[in-house]
Amino acid sequence: MPLDETRPGTLLHEARSFEPFQMPILRDPSGHLTLGGLRLAEIELESGTPTYVYDLDAMADEARFIGASFDGMTHLVAYAVKANSAGPVVRALAEQGCGADVVSGAELLVALGCGISPDRIVYSGVAKTDAELDRAIATGDHGIAAVQIESVEEATRVEARALAAARTARVSIRINPGVDLKDATHAHIATGHDTAKFGVSLHDVGRAVELIEGSPHLRLVGMATHVGSQLSTTEPYVASARTLFGVVRGLREAGRLRSLRFVDTGGGFGIDYTGSQLMPLAAGDFVRAARREQRTSGLDDLALYIEPGRSLVAAHGVLLARVIQKKVTASARWLMIDAGMNDLLRPALYQAFHRIVSVDVEVTHEHALDWRVVGPVCESSDDFGIHPLPPDPCGVMAILDAGAYGYAMASQYNGRQLAVEAFVRGGRIVGLTERGSPEVWAEDRAHAGHARGSLRSRS
Ligand code: LLP
Repeated sequence: MPLDETRPGTLLHEARSFEPFQMPILRDPSGHLTLGGLRLAEIELESGTPTYVYDLDAMADEARFIGASFDGMTHLVAYAVKANSAGPVVRALAEQGCGADVVSGAELLVALGCGISPDRIVYSGVAKTDAELDRAIATGDHGIAAVQIESVEEATRVEARALAAARTARVSIRINPGVDLKDATHAHIATGHDTAKFGVSLHDVGRAVELIEGSPHLRLVGMATHVGSQLSTTEPYVASARTLFGVVRGLREAGRLRSLRFVDTGGGFGIDYTGSQLMPLAAGDFVRAARREQRTSGLDDLALYIEPGRSLVAAHGVLLARVIQKKVTASARWLMIDAGMNDLLRPALYQAFHRIVSVDVEVTHEHALDWRVVGPVCESSDDFGIHPLPPDPCGVMAILDAGAYGYAMASQYNGRQLAVEAFVRGGRIVGLTERGSPEVWAEDRAHAGHARGSLRSRS
């Protein structure tokens, strides 16, 4: 939406028509930006900057919408914990029936710690360690729902770990569908093409099935795929699902896959980072398209699993940052803020664009000036791009759509502290993390490899 249309009460992040309950980011009648019914400026008074703020109610709504798009058929929404692993977020989604897709032993612990049953957890990843496999296999009465095997070699390792644990591990095969996303998403987040490291190639699927079905320590319960992230059309998702379903059908016709319980078409549903409604697709549209394909393929006896991350959480988080200073040169009006690429890596890593707006000053198009917003990190790529902002921007800015792959990918590069996270539910802050301190970081680094002590006493 162009800035000149921002009026009191105007949606900055308009609800998509087919998902009427989706919680938008709003300005209240006096022009203050709100999230989850709270003024962001007021949250900042309590939290300082930089701070991620999450609207847990809106995230829960997203989970409900996507659950409804299965039309009552057996399914699992396995939330990709990598997108945002904060406990309150994972718990809010789990309360709506979400399971989890995890990619490390640590994420598995988060999912379990948030009360998700092992029966609702799948575990993806090309290089799981033995310790991680042992944890997945030993969890609960039967291990997790499925270790998603990404190579024939991994199947052999999982078998060995299951044997050592005297258990039968439930596994699924993540196939690489050989779908090239070309321009459909950024090359760094495409995963389903022939040269990607992910998944078992179509050529090797038969071998993987044979190995697993021939082992008393493995049970093949699922067949999965995940073609990439931030998809802006359903075509690649459907192409990938069609390939998966074709493989399953072929193997069944050959008398295999007798213990199969589910097919998993992965995540990847894109969101509209521009706020311009150019991509009016909802996550449910991907699910409905996959469902149609599943029905056509005659696989309705199997549960459908999906692994959404971004689409559940991205639009319902913002990163608050404070203006530190301005610098006007012949080439640009620079706006330096106190959040950088260490807090939100997406622009530097994928040339991603996140809208930036002032939390308490509305600006009309004719009054806005282009400011190039940059962070404090000593890298030219610490650059959030050009944004139309008030002529004299000051105070607190909100970087929008930062609920996914924001804090999750943050680092302490340049000796910076991790951002605080504030969790909003029912119109109030229900949780706030603590801000780290430069002194603790400095102490850790100065004495790396040694027992802790004060800097002063050691100098
Ligand atoms: N399942 C698997 C096996 C995955 O690898 C991923 C994401 C997902 C599910 C969830 O995808 P989503 O629904 O969130 O698109 N850091 C990048 C995104 C990397 C995605 C990696 N895999 C970003 O900030 O755009």
